[in-house]
Amino acid sequence: MSRPMASMLVLFGATGDLAQRMLLPALYELQRDRLLPDGLRILASSRSDLDDAGFRALAAGSIERHGHPLDPAVLRALVDRIQYQPADSQDPASMAKLAAAARDRHDGDVVSHLSTAPRLYASICEALGQHGLGGSDSRVLLEKPIGHDLASAIAINDGVARVFDEERVFRVDHYPGKEGVQNLISLRFGNALFEPLWNARHVEQVQITVSETVGVEGRGDYYDHSGAMRDMLQNHLLQLLCLVAMEPPSQLEPSAVRNEKIKVLRSLRAIEGADAASHSVAGQYTAGAIDGRAVPGYREELGRDSRTETFVALRAHIDNWRWSGVPFYLRTGKRLPRRCTEIYLQFRAVPHSIFGGVETQPNALVIRLQPEERISLTLMSKTPGLDRQGLKLSQVSLDLDLHDAFEKVRRRSAYERLYLDALEGNGTLFVRRDETETAWQWVDGILHAWHQQGLAPKPYPAGTWGPSAAVTLTERHGHSWRE
Ligand code: BG6
Repeated sequence: MSRPMASMLVLFGATGDLAQRMLLPALYELQRDRLLPDGLRILASSRSDLDDAGFRALAAGSIERHGHPLDPAVLRALVDRIQYQPADSQDPASMAKLAAAARDRHDGDVVSHLSTAPRLYASICEALGQHGLGGSDSRVLLEKPIGHDLASAIAINDGVARVFDEERVFRVDHYPGKEGVQNLISLRFGNALFEPLWNARHVEQVQITVSETVGVEGRGDYYDHSGAMRDMLQNHLLQLLCLVAMEPPSQLEPSAVRNEKIKVLRSLRAIEGADAASHSVAGQYTAGAIDGRAVPGYREELGRDSRTETFVALRAHIDNWRWSGVPFYLRTGKRLPRRCTEIYLQFRAVPHSIFGGVETQPNALVIRLQPEERISLTLMSKTPGLDRQGLKLSQVSLDLDLHDAFEKVRRRSAYERLYLDALEGNGTLFVRRDETETAWQWVDGILHAWHQQGLAPKPYPAGTWGPSAAVTLTERHGHSWRE
């Protein structure tokens, strides 16, 4: 059910990195295309002692710095909507002032966006509730990570639930907001071609790769406490896995989609005890080179010793009828050779070759989500020639470059889409409580097994595809990573 359009956005953590890098630029782009609701007011808040003018100047600077050429009229229209009110969630008087400012300036639904440390979510929600911003005309947007493990996620979710019903809680995972990720839904459910093949009878293996070339980029304190498993796998990769593996929802609507995603998460086979060593690999980058440029190792960047993983690869299984026996290889890491988010489905080999000794390669579907959006299907084709020594076959590829196909259409950032949906109250692309908790439960099992089995991350030089054990993870089963 869609809710009324919001008339007030309260942005907590407005001077923070995410707000400066992604959120304010997204609001600017929406303003540019006049997509923000006419009467929308934005109340920005953080602990910094700024006034309206100070924050507006900061916002303008960061929008420009993050690659958005400033149009003075658009900027004026955006900053005219923005007021700034300093507040500290631990200081009730400042929260009361903030709430009063929000109440005074709206005449419709209020969306509070919490872009702060997650440990503050429960207390901020409590204050919102106390000051009249937790009622049925309000909703809350929460950034990841929701906790550090299942227990802390439950504590946060319980705290939020004391004020907001679940249908008014919008947990952000920015991956589902990406154009390419939504295209995955369109590809699967907008075409009749793939569905009959999308199962264990026809699919040999699935790979989901999210590789990054960046290191920890000054976020060492957060990252070292988190690692690739918590930072990327628990959320972004498992969301992609759900969209690849779920049953067709009856409609593109919040409950229908999320009911299907949760079934996938609940069907994930636990990786526990001795299985951890054969089904998972953790790695940590050492000094190396990316694009010919020397880069330091993780520990050098961090300035101390650490056992945190910057790479993780898993062999996962979804124990249901559709996917029985099909391995889902998931991998993500920092300082890998290139930035790429890709889903690869390898189909089963032909059941019988009519070509004598001529080898055929299995068909594969590659869905590249970023940096460019591209879909390619590899097929076997006859190599032209007279075939006096017998028919020759070669692998060819049907390629669809979606940037070319839609070259006149502007690509939207994930946050532009997510903001509009949240302002409209459409939760389809947001993560429900049971999803995040089930994902934590699965991930906790693996982390616990690593600990129990004394599995430490294996080193890999920056600019390579992770430790060699990641190669063994697939090769042991006759598969190899697509590179
Ligand atoms: C964030 C992680 O959620 O996603 C970062 O905290 C990571 O560590 C980022 O770099 C990747 O997002 P994107 O959109 O650049 O693929």
